[in-house]
Amino acid sequence: MLKLLTLFCVVYAAHGLVLPASILATYSDAFARTQMLALASAAYSSNPQHCLDSKFTNAQLKRQIYVKNCALVNNDVCSGYTAVLHNDKAIVISFRGTQGFFQLISEANKSIFESQMSWIAGGKVSKYFGDAFSKVWAAGMKDDFAALLTQNPGYEVWVSGHSLGGSLASLAASYVIGTKLVDGSRVKLVTYGEPRTGNKDYAHAHDAQLAYSYRVTHNRDVVPHVPNEDFEGYYHNKFEVYYRENMKNGAKYTVCNGDEDNGCSDGLWITTSIDDHLHYFEKDISAWGDKGCN
Ligand SMILES: *[C@@H]1O[C@H](CO)[C@@H](O)[C@H](O)[C@H]1NC(C)=O
Repeated sequence: MLKLLTLFCVVYAAHGLVLPASILATYSDAFARTQMLALASAAYSSNPQHCLDSKFTNAQLKRQIYVKNCALVNNDVCSGYTAVLHNDKAIVISFRGTQGFFQLISEANKSIFESQMSWIAGGKVSKYFGDAFSKVWAAGMKDDFAALLTQNPGYEVWVSGHSLGGSLASLAASYVIGTKLVDGSRVKLVTYGEPRTGNKDYAHAHDAQLAYSYRVTHNRDVVPHVPNEDFEGYYHNKFEVYYRENMKNGAKYTVCNGDEDNGCSDGLWITTSIDDHLHYFEKDISAWGDKGCN
């Protein structure tokens, strides 16, 4: 353990960053496979409460927010929800992907990554992602989250999302810490099939803010490789958790230490699978959420 601690200190010192409050986060396959997956999937349902009832005890949806024409694709709807899990003593923020985003990725259209905006915690992020987050936040998530924090002091904050929803979750976690709503040590972030969201400065700022931050990737899922690492400075944050081949119970995985790490999915030559993107832990994420996570 001491060795691991020393290694983290050296890595952080090398980047000139402040250590997060807790650097002893450990990835849990069970937590990502059950709780966090259900929270990400629930965002695809018109009633996330069904998934909350199916996988948690004493869990209550606060509100699901929809924003029409949320970004540059016509008729695109961005959505996320907040909830509280009393048994787990956690407040939830979760986002879903959008049809428009998926369409652009399928067409290998990088327009959503071309324009960037400055990010509160540091660096730059895709303007499309930044705007989508801001719109959902301003449309009511901000108020709901503030109320949940007041009503449930001391609870952890669990943030999740799949695909574009993973990027929005990553931004949300960074935002609530960056605006001092919560301390980074209270936040747990797990995303699935998240695209590159911002540049290297953003990735490093994100790394410094969050200890418990896991970016789960599945075999040849195309989306974590979009846009290319050499496109406009886009760079992933920590920690990638890579599942090669399958995600069955007991499947092997690798937790990588680098923001971009050839020991994980960066080491692949072919990363073109849409099917691997739509399925995590053997669930069709959106369909499973729609059916109430049963
Ligand atoms: C990419 O998508 C944008 C937004 O829908 C569209 O305006 C643009 O024409 C597309 N570019 C290509 C090369 O398809």
